Amino acid sequence: MHAEKSFVSFPADGAHLPTDEMTDLLKLLEPQEIRELQSRALSEIARASSAADVESLRVRYLGRKGLIKQATNRLGKAPPEQRPGLGRLINEARQTIEEALKPKTFAKPEKKRPPFDLTLPARRAAGSGLHPITQTIEAVKDIFLRLGFEVAYGPEVELDYYNFEALNIPEDHPAREAFDTFFLHDDVLLRSQTSTVQIRVMEKRQPPIRVIAPGKVYRPDTVDATHSFLFHQVEGLVVDEGVTMADLKYVLHEFAREFYGPDVRMRFRPYFFPFTEPSVEVDISCYACKGDGCWLCKGAGWIEILGAGMVDPTVFRYVGYDAERYTGFAFGMGVERIAMLKHGIDDIRLFLENDLRFLQQF
Ligand code: DAH
Repeated sequence: MHAEKSFVSFPADGAHLPTDEMTDLLKLLEPQEIRELQSRALSEIARASSAADVESLRVRYLGRKGLIKQATNRLGKAPPEQRPGLGRLINEARQTIEEALKPKTFAKPEKKRPPFDLTLPARRAAGSGLHPITQTIEAVKDIFLRLGFEVAYGPEVELDYYNFEALNIPEDHPAREAFDTFFLHDDVLLRSQTSTVQIRVMEKRQPPIRVIAPGKVYRPDTVDATHSFLFHQVEGLVVDEGVTMADLKYVLHEFAREFYGPDVRMRFRPYFFPFTEPSVEVDISCYACKGDGCWLCKGAGWIEILGAGMVDPTVFRYVGYDAERYTGFAFGMGVERIAMLKHGIDDIRLFLENDLRFLQQF
């Protein structure tokens, strides 16, 4: 042991005196010493006021290198006739110390503290609010209601007829491919566009018609930052005598100015949709860079927000409208898209992930 090694190496003249514990080892073990050890232990235990104190006393007296153990080690050097008596005394001392420690060891901590910090500010309840997509649809509705539109809704589980055929997309038409979607049955599917509601409204009503139709649509698109198998559209339809493309441009300009602010600019690009003729795609000047080009518009300065056009007379024939008498325009915009542009959101998946850190910003 450490103490013995130190002792062996000391010079015989005692020039370097060993520590107290080492000198103890030199002395013969006396009964008095054991009694003193015991009473010292008892008074120290009585004074111990914390679990840590109790533990260090236990180690000091009863530990593997503790004082009881040291005394036992010295037993062998005592005169043989004294050993049994001394051994008994050591045993008694150990038991007495053990007994004295017991109630202290199991005692509860004196100061009972709650397991948390009462002074910390309370955690706020998660605020409730409308989803940003719902908020966007509400904002779009507000604008079109002021322009004299009504709101109509159609089913998300739809017939092939409304999703394709009556919109002038016959079977085998190549335009189907872009919209082909989740079929539940031969001619029953999750709608791929809200244009379905145009047909449903016109079947029931005669012009004049001014409706918007918000709702969910589904497409078998691979999900990435700008694509999702589920998203929202707002469809628009106006039918009356004498409706022209100028009306379409006016209404969409009004919408864009209300939604994005007075400085927004708009441009119409020729395009193709089976249910409108002529058809256009409509871009707005990038909301983030005001047209200079940035990450949001990928440098173009413009961002596409919707498709539109003058209702194709073929569609009127499907719903029994007199295509000679009536004209109309229609448009369809992606809600996620216009919300992302308005708020500078760069990943469409955020809308579906239910992450409160995102949702609470709206
Ligand atoms: N339904 C089209 C789509 O999902 C969008 C659209 C384009 C709607 C032109 C229209 C329209 O009403 O006239 O991509």
